[in-house]
Amino acid sequence: MPMTYLLRKLFEILPWLMHHLPGPQQKANSCCEFVCPFIRKGDQKPQGERGIPDEPQDFIDFYLAQIAKAKGDPASTYDEDNMNQSIFYLFLAGTETTTTTLRWALLYMVAYPDIQENVQKELDTVLGPSQLICYEDRKNLPYTNAVIHEIQRYCSIVLIAIPRESGKDTTLQGFPIPKGTLILPNLDSVLFDPEKWESPRQFSPSCFLDKEGNFVSREAFLPFSTGSRVCLGAQLARSELFIVFANLLRALMFTLPKGVEEISTKLVLGSTMQPQPYKLCVVPR
Ligand code: HEM
Repeated sequence: MPMTYLLRKLFEILPWLMHHLPGPQQKANSCCEFVCPFIRKGDQKPQGERGIPDEPQDFIDFYLAQIAKAKGDPASTYDEDNMNQSIFYLFLAGTETTTTTLRWALLYMVAYPDIQENVQKELDTVLGPSQLICYEDRKNLPYTNAVIHEIQRYCSIVLIAIPRESGKDTTLQGFPIPKGTLILPNLDSVLFDPEKWESPRQFSPSCFLDKEGNFVSREAFLPFSTGSRVCLGAQLARSELFIVFANLLRALMFTLPKGVEEISTKLVLGSTMQPQPYKLCVVPR
């Protein structure tokens, strides 16, 4: 098991220890120290510039309103430090995941040029050349939508969801799980489950299409996990992926660089599963 992956898991399980041990995680710590003041700059504008508006518009507005509401409650955890930390986590959780998925998306389009061509044909047929693409358009673009779903299934960037601890003694499929057991939900096993997918080890957008070419959602499609701790940004991520992917493919053609015959789709284990560094050729259509 590569070191970075092991360190990531240790960070999740024993964060206090990892802050004190030497190693690459110290670089992550110093990055945090760089980003945090930037976040604070955004929410600590002089009084009056960033007061609590009557109609909150964004996360910071809602959080400031909650801090004000909970003032005087000694049990409240709403304060500016926690707000800054939450913003930091949203950035952390929301940037690497989406960009990594898009890097896989372009890699697969180069590795499977027929699929790229089919997406482009659909985009050209359904959308006007200067039409602004919005998330609603996915309903008229079932093939493109299926390809994006298959990209997410096949790259499976979060192999294992956030660790849990069982709150009480229970059983799962006959196995006893005592209170306090550490549980690592294996999302990869669902996305590649041979009982749920016809050919899980093949890149095949057709698993999200019916015989008439309509998009079909699949129960085992869980790249954002499931349950009460499901990815908080799933909806944002879905629309970002759709809009960016559709815009890129409508305007550009992605191919292997001259002289390169093959491109590797093997992954590099990290905090998310990354493609290996690659070069591709981008041509306006
Ligand atoms: C392709 C993009 C993304 C993927 C594949 C993804 C996947 C995941 C997964 C698997 C989890 C763990 C859920 C669990 O443990 O059950 C998670 C948690 C989370 N994600 Fe995402 N995510 C993505 C984008 C985003 C974005 C854009 C945001 C926010 C802007 C975000 C915010 C979060 C947060 C805050 C959590 C923790 C939720 C909790 O513990 O209650 N994610 N994500």
